[in-house]
Amino acid sequence: MTSAQEQGPAVEAFDAVDVIRAKRDGGVVAEPELRWMVDAYTRGYVADAQMASFAMAVLLNGMGRDEIRVLTDAMIASGERMSFADLGKPTVDKHSTGGVGDKITLPLAPLVASFGVAVPQLSGRGLGHTGGTLDKLESIPGWRAALSNDELFAQLRDVGAVICAAGSGLAPADKKLYALRDVTGTVEAIPLIASSIMSKKIAEGTDALVLDVKFGSGAFMRDIDHARELARTMVALGTDSGVATTALLTDMNTPLGLAIGNANEVQESVDVLAGGGPADIIELTVALAREMLALAGQPDADVEAALRDGRAMDSWRAMIRAQGGDPDAALPAARETQTVSATRAGVVTRIDALPFGIAAWRLGAGRARAQDPVVHAAGIDLHVKPGDAVVVGQPLFTLRADDPARFERALDAVEGAWDVGTDAPPAAPLVRERITA
Ligand code: URA
Repeated sequence: MTSAQEQGPAVEAFDAVDVIRAKRDGGVVAEPELRWMVDAYTRGYVADAQMASFAMAVLLNGMGRDEIRVLTDAMIASGERMSFADLGKPTVDKHSTGGVGDKITLPLAPLVASFGVAVPQLSGRGLGHTGGTLDKLESIPGWRAALSNDELFAQLRDVGAVICAAGSGLAPADKKLYALRDVTGTVEAIPLIASSIMSKKIAEGTDALVLDVKFGSGAFMRDIDHARELARTMVALGTDSGVATTALLTDMNTPLGLAIGNANEVQESVDVLAGGGPADIIELTVALAREMLALAGQPDADVEAALRDGRAMDSWRAMIRAQGGDPDAALPAARETQTVSATRAGVVTRIDALPFGIAAWRLGAGRARAQDPVVHAAGIDLHVKPGDAVVVGQPLFTLRADDPARFERALDAVEGAWDVGTDAPPAAPLVRERITA
């Protein structure tokens, strides 16, 4: 017998059933138990069924601020913790809870980096109707998402902006728990969402973080009250961990910008970096850049000037080149298009984000399973936004796909999702609230 067999199985400090019962009965789980639960789950000692039961108890009964902090900390402790302390410049990151047409990271990271700040934007791929930043950038010929830690540091030092794939070493407990929540109806618990997002951001080692917490039909949180609660929870978590954190609550009822897809969203981002682009994309990019630069010690930075005079564009080109991409290469174009036009004159009163996100996904711009490829040229170009006047026959939007068989299901998705009426809709501000510690 080996010595391990002689000693028998390791003695565990706690019992998962006791932890589950405590949360099921509305109690507070003490710090040692909670840390053990996360560690034992990551090691495979606590079973999926037990962790799913615990996650459901959290969804139903919530968690206090201290419990959420401990949970987040335990997930951070499950993996690698990076540090940018030797970079010699401040680091500031941004996280969006995801939306339709949300390409803001693309112009934002190089814009903020053009002020001498490092922006380590460790991103993911899209699943479902919200697109992934990496999928969008992979439309650019040659561009690669996977960087080693050495490459990441070198690019932060030399270029300032990096958008790359988050390594699997950050918060592995979250990776396992998120996959479990996805199939057990427990994604929507605010303590679990907040600890999931913030464990990865804090482990990444950024000095400061700006959160774009979205609400509305195309967002994870449908109503502003839940979005506010999520934002407050995440701002508190960041602050408690020494990461200067603020959040903006932003409206995601209408797609952001005019492009929904991948290659077309890259093109729209380049338009913004060239000093043009849709007003809502410029507004949100500028608002988030101001927040990020304020946290990095530059509250008076003239962000619009950097978009106008080409500094942000220079930073974008350097960022794309550093990751093997050709910023001048033609982006992929779809083989087939279908345009929908107005059948009556009036004013566009509504373009509902979620159905348009689903339609772009059905055209091939998104993936249903993690292993599926995306079609970079697929997506939707809007030609109008709510409030625009239209005449009969005026194009409203164009569907793009490589396979025309995809148009029918995409058109089904947007059936009834836009309106042309007589009165302009009331103006709804994009940035609704600012949440600070
Ligand atoms: N994004 C995450 O990373 N985690 C969640 O729980 C939800 C969204």
